[in-house]
Amino acid sequence: MTNNIPAFLAIEWTSGGLRLLDQRRLPAEEVYLNIGDAAAAATAIRDMVVRGAPAIGITAAYGVVLSAQQHSRETSDDWRGRVERDMDLLAAARPTAVNLVWALEQMRACLQAAATEPVKALLEVASRIHSEDIAANIRMGAYGENLINKGDSVLTYCNTGSLATGGYGTALGVIRSAWSAGKLEKVYACETRPWLQGARLTAWELVHDQIPVTLITDNSAAFLMQRGQVQWVITGADRVAANGDVINKIGTYQLAVSCRHHGVKMMVVAPLSTLDMAMPGGDQVTIEERPDAEVLELAGQRVAARGAGVWNPAFDVTPAALVDCLVTEAGVVQAPDRGKLAAFAATLQPDG
Ligand code: MRU
Repeated sequence: MTNNIPAFLAIEWTSGGLRLLDQRRLPAEEVYLNIGDAAAAATAIRDMVVRGAPAIGITAAYGVVLSAQQHSRETSDDWRGRVERDMDLLAAARPTAVNLVWALEQMRACLQAAATEPVKALLEVASRIHSEDIAANIRMGAYGENLINKGDSVLTYCNTGSLATGGYGTALGVIRSAWSAGKLEKVYACETRPWLQGARLTAWELVHDQIPVTLITDNSAAFLMQRGQVQWVITGADRVAANGDVINKIGTYQLAVSCRHHGVKMMVVAPLSTLDMAMPGGDQVTIEERPDAEVLELAGQRVAARGAGVWNPAFDVTPAALVDCLVTEAGVVQAPDRGKLAAFAATLQPDG
């Protein structure tokens, strides 16, 4: 990464439409897919070609542009209805990350306000969502870096970098900023079963950036803490509820429990687009459950005993009480809870 510009673009709007880096094939192959319509964008989100809360919101926004390109050319006077139906399809692609519906709400408002030729206006909104996400990440990087002491070591989880966002990253953005500031002794990353976002994607991004990374199996994390090897666990979020509960990649909760037991600090880094003040608590969020094959197989090879059942939730809920600080682009909320988040939200501009 030079001047915050990554060497790859996970999501790119080109003259030919939407281009996505296929994250299912990383790190073995860098393959880009051209996405031709909203249905293909929804499939790409559901099948994890693109993943990470902000990245799926941005992809859905471009998916709406593709839909408008297709339907506004049609003679039918119900083209708006068709775009609306595509938006519903996009919204249903994955249920947990609030960034998806957040982005679609902005596209819906633009569509409703647009005259007969909506494509230009919709593309402007989608591009703004994309570029503002990168800007937010860079601001969060600075806020988060400020909390880290020189010589600290950190553990991160899942992938929260340029692959999971518009660029730079949330938790990984903080790690990038802290590394650039010369503060970090060591960066550890959990593999993040079952999809291995840590081993495949976070490690790939950090190696790209020449930031040394040490992978651990997910079940080594508590022992790493017991040995005093990390001062921080830094994660992203798919949704932060109004009471401060954090919904993030399955396994985040057990990291937070271990952090509290060992006196390791837990930093959650999430843009305002991830903050869901309409959601009272984490227990009310729909948690996506993914296919059994993700657990039964490894790289397409069956590893589990035949006949075994599977429970494969993709996310979990970390109670706010286990979070030491929430870093957003508008500032840091220490020990977030319902009252502090309400006061923080009240300081934000209406368009947040
Ligand atoms: O299932 P994924 O890979 O989409 O899950 C991603 C995460 O849980 C990330 O931590 C979260 O989306 C924040 S990404 C900036």
